[in-house]
Amino acid sequence: METIAKSNTTKEITTDFLPLQGTDYVEFYVGNAKQAAHFYKTAFGFKSLAYAGPETGVKEKVSYVIRQNKLTFVLTTPLKSNNPIADHIYKHGDGVKVLALKVDDASIAWQETTARGGKSYLEPIKLNDDKGEVVLSGIHTYGDTVHLFVERNNYSGVFMPGFISWNSNYNPSETGLLYVDHCVGNVGWNQMNTWVKFYEDVMGFRNILSFDDNDISTEYSALMSKVMSNGNGFVKFPINEPAEGKKKSQIEEYLDFYNGEGVQHVAIATNNIIETVNELQKRGVEFLKVPASYYETILERVGTIDEDLKPLSELGILIDRDEEGYLLQIFTKPLEDRPTVFFEIIQRKGAKSFGKGNFKALFEAIEREQALRGNL
Ligand code: FE2
Repeated sequence: METIAKSNTTKEITTDFLPLQGTDYVEFYVGNAKQAAHFYKTAFGFKSLAYAGPETGVKEKVSYVIRQNKLTFVLTTPLKSNNPIADHIYKHGDGVKVLALKVDDASIAWQETTARGGKSYLEPIKLNDDKGEVVLSGIHTYGDTVHLFVERNNYSGVFMPGFISWNSNYNPSETGLLYVDHCVGNVGWNQMNTWVKFYEDVMGFRNILSFDDNDISTEYSALMSKVMSNGNGFVKFPINEPAEGKKKSQIEEYLDFYNGEGVQHVAIATNNIIETVNELQKRGVEFLKVPASYYETILERVGTIDEDLKPLSELGILIDRDEEGYLLQIFTKPLEDRPTVFFEIIQRKGAKSFGKGNFKALFEAIEREQALRGNL
């Protein structure tokens, strides 16, 4: 609930014009969805859920849906060249195309957002099968990324019409990944305020946190960041913009290799980061490492924590504290060969912030990787 001044009168806005129930799924466009699905199942512990492709009447593409707790990924690849999915992969490499959001009414979500200046990606469309109905609609956001609104209250099928159950005999055990905590977008030079305004005006989000140059520049890898949140806090989209530094910003490196704006990282919640990261490392997931010296003084900065420091330092898990509590977090290396999309694993113990206290150590670790790639 918020109050805004409008045309000399103070108008109370008592309802959220875009009520969101959270992230419905994240869709990646990838060069080889069959292999990507195998990687995410093996390395991250997702289960096979649903499939669409030629066998189900879809001629242009194949999609595998995988799930772990409330975290759903769709991995989509084109079957031929010369179509928007193939073009997306040619331009960006593997990356996030869709951040899908769960709503009660996808038609109203589309009307409210397009009426406020959102550019339509998909007019409301009803999909039906014998399990009921799903309504989809969508708008464009930064780069070639889109938000789909998914209305599925009247649907009891496995994913959505057009998909069949994917019953695989290969289902590695889960790793404790629970749901999307936040999704971060990288935007171009001087584009931060455009996209902050987009999330405020078109989607009714608020800017809940800002970081500038002073907070998060190391010697080189400068960036600015603003965190946008929807009304109930279920959906949080931090936005990064590169800043001038001595050498190339990590955000600029992303923009160069993604060939434009796009999703930088998906942060995934766990209730036990030590167990989760231990399991992920055993399965070959690679993480950014901070120097051992980080742990020598960390407890002076963050105070008492429930966990033993030893496993945290062995695994390279970072710690930060705000007024409300603390958080534990760690970042994977990029998940594809281009230095673009990566994951964050996060366990919140009261803290609602994003690990500002770790930025310096973290960005120095990123710069070491950037330098190895020759991009600093
Ligand atoms: Fe994050």
